[in-house]
This record gives sequence, structure tokens and C-alpha cells, in this order.
Amino acid sequence: MKSHEIRQKFIHFFKEKKHTELPSASLIPENDSTTLFNTAGMQPLIPFLMGEPHPAGKAIVNCQKCVRTGDIEDVGDTTHCTFFEMLGNWPLGNYGKKEAIQYSFEFLTFSKYLGIDPNKLYVTVFEGDNDIPKDIESINIWKECFSSVGITAQENERIFPLGKNDNFWGPVGSSGPCGPDTEMFIDTGIKKCNENCKPGCKCGKYIEIWNDVFMFYYKNLDGSYKLLEKPQIDTGFGLERATTILNGFTNVYDTDLFKSVMQEIKTLANIETPTQEQLKSLRIISDHIRSAVFIMGDDLGIAPSNVNQGYVVRRLIRNAIRHIKLLNIQKENTCSYIANLFINTMSEFYDELSKNKKRVISALDKEELQFAKTLDNGLKEFNKLEEITGADAFKLYSTYGFPLEMTIDLIKEKGLSFDIKGFNDEFTKHKELSRTASEGMFKGGLADHSEIVTKYHTATHLLHQALRETLGVHVEQRGSNITAERMRFDFSHPDKLTPDQLHMIEDLVNEKIKNSLTIKCELKPIEEAKNSGAIGLFGNKYGNQVNVYTIGDFSKEICGGPHVENTSELGHFRIIKEEACSAGIRRIKAVLE
Ligand code: ALA
Repeated sequence: MKSHEIRQKFIHFFKEKKHTELPSASLIPENDSTTLFNTAGMQPLIPFLMGEPHPAGKAIVNCQKCVRTGDIEDVGDTTHCTFFEMLGNWPLGNYGKKEAIQYSFEFLTFSKYLGIDPNKLYVTVFEGDNDIPKDIESINIWKECFSSVGITAQENERIFPLGKNDNFWGPVGSSGPCGPDTEMFIDTGIKKCNENCKPGCKCGKYIEIWNDVFMFYYKNLDGSYKLLEKPQIDTGFGLERATTILNGFTNVYDTDLFKSVMQEIKTLANIETPTQEQLKSLRIISDHIRSAVFIMGDDLGIAPSNVNQGYVVRRLIRNAIRHIKLLNIQKENTCSYIANLFINTMSEFYDELSKNKKRVISALDKEELQFAKTLDNGLKEFNKLEEITGADAFKLYSTYGFPLEMTIDLIKEKGLSFDIKGFNDEFTKHKELSRTASEGMFKGGLADHSEIVTKYHTATHLLHQALRETLGVHVEQRGSNITAERMRFDFSHPDKLTPDQLHMIEDLVNEKIKNSLTIKCELKPIEEAKNSGAIGLFGNKYGNQVNVYTIGDFSKEICGGPHVENTSELGHFRIIKEEACSAGIRRIKAVLE
């Protein structure tokens, strides 16, 4: 079964069950500083999982583009991918646990859908702990499902209660909606690794295909849980994983999502039967270029850089180039050649890829050229060294962009002696630093929905309109990021702003705050919203209906919320920085005090 068939079947199934299909949200979280990328289908939906009414209605289904950078080191094995597509259904209060589990069972096992033999289906549920009770309800629902097809499902035989590590999901970041889950596994038919082997064991006998999360809780920053006023359901069905399992494969690179690209790279490298090392390189190149294509090809596109998402793209591309060199591929612009293959096949489902193709290809070519230069300089530096200290290796990494693995390879090649311990110390120090930095990002993200973040969200609308009134209507939002400490807003404008302009913008926002304007939200068909002059980034994201937020008669924007009720709640607005973000895009950082 091809990946597109599975994608379509899933969406179709839930549409039949009266769900509205949403296009994937951007890979880059909007107004949410919790993570660099959307890492699950639920992430762009957090405001709605927290009770904000969704313009698309009560039950939704979609296929969300996701990136999980935490898995980058594992890429090269048979299952890990940095980019993946997650299918999911969200009842938003429209139905509960029972229907969610029954739908999952129906879609997995009924012959007109995936038709998986229910005898091969095993499930896990939450066993309970001091905070949250055992999920007996799910156990009983599963028993009914299995019994409807003549299978007596017993606890610890087909339904396995497991602890928080296995059967609890969320929150994204340190606080937010979360809850116990039930996970569905397919028995691949291979032998149990030992007599205690059961779903959740990593040996490969049982592979997880779907996760239904019962988002009944909210985790507070202090680690305690409270019951959500409106309990929700969040599900995740990974397309790559499902395509692998449903074709009886054990390797994601054998699926149609990768197969032809893998073959093409083999041809470029003149390899017929790859060694284990070569196979790893082939997989890393495929995975990394695919992720880079989706990140850069997103409408809120990112270019390679040294910070945040841009750094992740740079790292992906450079690591791919390193493996292209290991395979001794001589072709020029190999990255963009491979990128094109992905763009050609995936544009059918993600039309932003063909729309943004030029930008992606030229960024890849530029990065490949630039890296070739830094590589040369770095190699010169490297060749001067008689011995490599930890600090040297780290300098090659931080100054010349040498991936650490590459330095190790070079050291081995040259037969140099080097101080492994110093190297590890330096590396660990760096890792600690980046961990601290990324933990910093979790503080005060939108996920905890704190009051201040909501205020910044409203201030963003005021700033957007103030920019348009001061600079002109060519100003359009290009990105936004909010933390509890500040707001950041990127917009199209060719020139640096003058101090006068900055003052005028600041004053205008403060005037609107002083005027105590009321914020109103109306649900409208998208065309009507556009015709009424509403601005905003959301495009057709929520299908036909959109939420339009008006602030007095000053601003009108299509937006997912949340917002304060009156501008007087915002305090004083101050711009702390104005700078270039990329060509033709300026960035303003501002605070509310
Ligand atoms: N959000 C859940 C997951 O990612 C469904 O597994």
C-alpha cells in the first residue's frame, strides 16, 4: 500500500465520520516559542485543545508536517526520520474515549480500510500511578472491540497496562495539556526476544502504529496535574511507520516515500550493493535532504543560518554533504538534485514545495558552495595541526562548521594522536550549553497559555496594524514568536526603520492601549473575512471558516487567538530592537511593561 493511499484513507475515514479536514499547519510554530518545530499534530491545535472554539467546527482530521530534531543522531538506522507526517483526529469535545478507540479499531481492522488482522493487534493502556488512576475504561472498551470480532482480549495477554514512561503523552514543553494514552501495536510475527517481551519492548516484534491520547489533564509548571475543564482527545498515526508496517517491511527506506530517491543516490555513487556504512550514508542523505526541503519549502520558510531553525537546516545539509563526500559522489549540486526528487513527488500533497522550489534549490546550492569553502579553510587549519586537542576539535566545529563526526573521521584518516578526553569534555560542555539554551525556550511558551503570552498576542495585532499605518500596506507579517519575556515580529519592509518611525509606531500602539478598545471574535467564511479587509497569515488553513479578531475599529485579523478582552489590560508597549531579519524582512522585538 502506497503512502498516499494510507494518507487518503485516513482522511477519508474521518471525513465519513463528520470530521473537517484541515491542511497541515506550517512546520514552524506560530506565536509559540515552546519548540523550534511542530513536533506533533496536536501542537498547532493547543489553543483549541485548551477550549478556544475552532472555526472548522467540532471534529477535525489532518496530516501534519512534523520535525523532531531529538532523533537526528539516530538517523541511519531503519526507522528514525527527522521529518515525518503525522495523521490525527481531534473530536474537540464532540466525542469521547469510547468512540475514539472504536474508530481506531475500525480503521485499523475493517477490510474496507486498512484490513489488519485483529489477531495481530495488541494494545497498551495506562496502569495508573499516584497522580492519575488506572485507565480501566479503555481496557473495557478494547475488550468490547476485540469481542465484536470474536477475540477474547485479556489483560496482560492482548491489553497491557504500562506506566507513565510508556502510556502517558505530553505536555509539549514543561507545561500544558497531557494525559494517559492507549497505544496500538502490530505483531510483526518475529520471535519474542525473551519470555517477557510484550508491546512496548524495543526488539522489533511489536511496532506501534497509533496513539490515542486522553488529554484530560493539564500539567502545571510545578509538576502537578489538574483536570482540564474540557477534556480532549489527541491522536497520532505516523505515516512513515504505518507505510512500513502495512507493507510488511521493517525498514522505512524501503517504502515509496524513500525508495526511488535511495536508488538515485546509489546510482550517483555508483553503488550496487552497499556496505553497512554506505547504507547508513544513503539513509542520512535521504532523510536530511527531505527534512531540509520541508523546512525551507514551508511558507514561513527558513534559510540556513547559525541560529534556531536555520541552524538545524544548516546542520542537516552539512551532515548530508559530509555523507555525499563519504560516498564519493562527484556530481555538482548534489543536494539540490536530490531535493528536486522529493519536491517532484511530494508537491502533489504539499503545494508549497513547488511554489517555494526556487528558493529551496538556490539556498541548497549556496550552502553547498559555502560549505565547500569553509571545508577548504577548515582543512587547511586542520592540516597545520600535529595533534588535536579537545579545544581544537571544538574550534573546527564552531568556527568552520565541521560536524564533530567529520573531525573524528579526519583524525582517524591522518592517524593523529588526539586527546579523546579533552574532546569529550569540550563536547559535553557544549552539549550542556545547548541543552540549557533549549530548556530556556520552554519557559513561558504559548503552551502554558499564561496571561502574559495572551497579552503579547494581542499586542502583536496592534503592532502589525501600527506598522501598516505608519509604513504602508506593503507591510505583511512574515513570522512571530512570543515568550513570556518579549514578543518578536517579522514583517516585509525594504528599509531600516528610522528613530522617528519607531517612535510613531510605539506611540500609536500605546494610544490604542490607552483607548481601552474591546477585542471581538467572529467566525466568518474566509472570502467574507478577506472582503471585509481582514489581514492575517492563516490563508485557507482552517478550511472555509475563520476566526476574525477585531480590536475596536483599529485592527482586523484572521487569527487563531487567544486574545485579551480589552487593550487596557496590556500596560505599556516598548520597542527594544529593530533589525534586519533577511532580505526585505525586518524584525522588531518589543516588551509590555
Ligand atoms: N500527540 C500524540 C503523539 O505524538 C498523539 O504521539
